[in-house]
Formats: sequence, C-alpha cells, structure tokens
Amino acid sequence: MQQTSASITTERKHSHVEICLHREVCFDSTPTGLKAYAFEHNAAPEIDASALDLSTSFLGRNIGLPLMISSMTGGYGDALALNRTLAETAEKYDIPLGVGSMRQTLESASHRDSFAIVRKAAPNAPIYANIGAPEVAAGLSREQLAILIDLIGADALIVHLNPAQELFQPEGNTAFSGFLDKLQNVTATAGVPVIAKEVGCGISARVARRLADAGVQAIDVAGAGGISWQKVEEYRYLSQFPEENRFSPSALGELLNWGIPTADCLTDLRQLRGSCPEYAPLGVIASGGIRDGLDIAKSIALGADLAASAQPLLKALHAGTLDRTIETWMNDLRAVMFLTGSATIEELKRAPIHKKH
Ligand SMILES: Cc1cc2nc3c(=O)[nH]c(=O)nc-3n(C[C@H](O)[C@H](O)[C@H](O)COP(=O)(O)O)c2cc1C
Repeated sequence: MQQTSASITTERKHSHVEICLHREVCFDSTPTGLKAYAFEHNAAPEIDASALDLSTSFLGRNIGLPLMISSMTGGYGDALALNRTLAETAEKYDIPLGVGSMRQTLESASHRDSFAIVRKAAPNAPIYANIGAPEVAAGLSREQLAILIDLIGADALIVHLNPAQELFQPEGNTAFSGFLDKLQNVTATAGVPVIAKEVGCGISARVARRLADAGVQAIDVAGAGGISWQKVEEYRYLSQFPEENRFSPSALGELLNWGIPTADCLTDLRQLRGSCPEYAPLGVIASGGIRDGLDIAKSIALGADLAASAQPLLKALHAGTLDRTIETWMNDLRAVMFLTGSATIEELKRAPIHKKH
C-alpha cells in the first residue's frame, strides 16, 4: 500500500521520539561552549537565598522561571499522552511549551487531538505552535495559519529552520528558496508573534538580522551541543538504505557535528542586540544542549531571556522524573543567583561571567 505524506509525517514524528529516547544521537563531546564560562563569585551577595525571584517575562507574558519546554511532538496516537504531561508541567511551573511540528495537521485531520490536548491541560501557560521552514517556503495560506494557531490557542508561532536535518532526512525537503519573503507574509498575517528557531545547528547574528527584518520577534538559537538532527536522520536513513553511502566517510563525521555552539550563538546575538538599537527588542531563547540549571543561568548571563530544553525533559518524562528534574534545575539556578548576588532574573542578566583560560 502506498504511504500518504500524512502517514509518513506521522511515522516520522513517532520514530523521532523513539530515537531521541533510546539512541546516542547527541553531538560528540556536548560542545555547547557553556562549560568554558564561569561566573565571578560574589563573596558579599547582600541578598537572602530564601527570597530569590525566579519569575521573568517573555513576549509580554510573565512566566514562573526562565525555562521553556522546547517543541517536540504531536501528530500520532501516543503523542497525546506525552503532550498532556508536558502541558500539565508547563501549567504547574507557569512556563512556555512549544508543540512539535504541526505539518501533520495541515496534511490530515487525524491526530489533531494530540495537539489540542495541550491547551486543555494548560489553560494559562504560554503555548507556541510550530511549523517548518520548508512549509513556510512552499507558502502557507491564511486558512492554514489559522488551523495551526486556533487548534491550540497559540500565543506565538515557532518557525523551525532545519536545513541540515532536511538534508540528512531520507524523505527531506530542501526547497528553501524564497523562504524569507514567505516568512514575511507569515509574520504579517499570523496575528501572533513569530519565533524563529533552529533545531540544533544554531542561528548566527547574521541570520538573526535577516529573520528580524522579516518580522520575527524572537530567536531560539537551538545551537550545537545537544541533539544532532543529522545523527537522528542518518540513523533513519541507514535503517532504510543500509548499503548506501551519501557522504564520504571523512566528511561525514564533521557534517554530523555541523553547527554553531549554543554559547557562540548567544554571544553573537548579545553583540547584535547591544550594538544595533533596532535589534535590541529581539527576544532570545537559549537552547541546544541545556543540561542543568547552571547552563540556564550561564545562558541568561550571556544574553538570553530564557533557556529551553527538549531531549533531557523527554527523557525525564519517560523516566517519571520530570518534576524532579525541573525542581533540581530551579535549585541550581537559585544557587547561582545567590552566589552572584542576583535577586532577580534581570539582575542575573548583568552578573559578571568570564570565559575561562
Ligand atoms: C523528540 C524530539 C522531537 C523534536 N521535534 C521538533 C519539532 O517538531 N519542531 C522543532 O522545532 N523542534 C523539534 N525538536 C528540536 C528541539 O525543539 C530542540 O531544538 C533540539 O532538540 C535541541 O534541544 P535539546 O538539546 O534540549 O534537545 C525536537 C526534539 C526532540 C528531542
């Protein structure tokens, strides 16, 4: 029986979760670059560790702490339970949640409940819709945009940029021509803020400028250091075509680890926001290899408004330790705030941090 594009998308979303849970698909040696930074210790913090305020705001909304559950899933049967738990967690901690790519909802009416569940389980948390650059480049109608946003009562729309993933994906779509013009149509008509994110190869200031010029209000850098989507898709490719060699063996290693480390994206964007007033309002999310509350704190001191995490939270959910993971990260964050004398997240943004020699 011939597969429809909707059934291919459904199958792919399921296999992504399974591969990210059970296979070694992270960048070699987790090179986010964040470990190279250290905070300057404040021996006289003059604040109380019991009275730290982790709340902050993003895209005009107050949130409980500077953490977002990054876009992951939806569009197949088992995704409903995953998204329900992720949404309940977002609601509990008052943090944003991104759903996975909603391409499937544009191809078929089945499994829409696996997305719609998030708004039911999280009536108040900020929820972000998600669609890929290839779908944007192909042209999204107003009706299609309305499906994405209305289905989950989205507070913002994330457009993911994933050229390396599409390049490695067995059935990938690498037609990115005209993307920025089409993105401009989306930002003008979506009716909600648009966030541009990578999926693990990072966004430079040079690219961020072009995205902001197209009307994007925030950038999620999703830099190198966490999941390598080249590795995920290479795994899927080799399971379908075990004998085929797409890239020369010497190039493959470097291509599988292709991308800008998360910390480099953040310092690049900090420089852009600091030196060009027209880009100062651009929101910045740090993601790609965020693994604890220290990574969150460093990201904020390096210029992010909040950090986001995907695979570690998926693994924690699978292990039944999602709440414990988030609370441990909150404790890490509180420790850094106290030891840098930062009573609030705004103060943490100004905490002295240095690259180690
Ligand atoms: C199982 C899984 C599915 C994902 N699906 C999407 C997606 O549909 N859309 C998207 O923008 N990013 C997707 N991502 C990428 C994440 O949002 C994130 O950018 C990336 O995994 C890097 O973050 P991490 O190192 O914390 O995992 C997915 C990640 C995981 C683990």
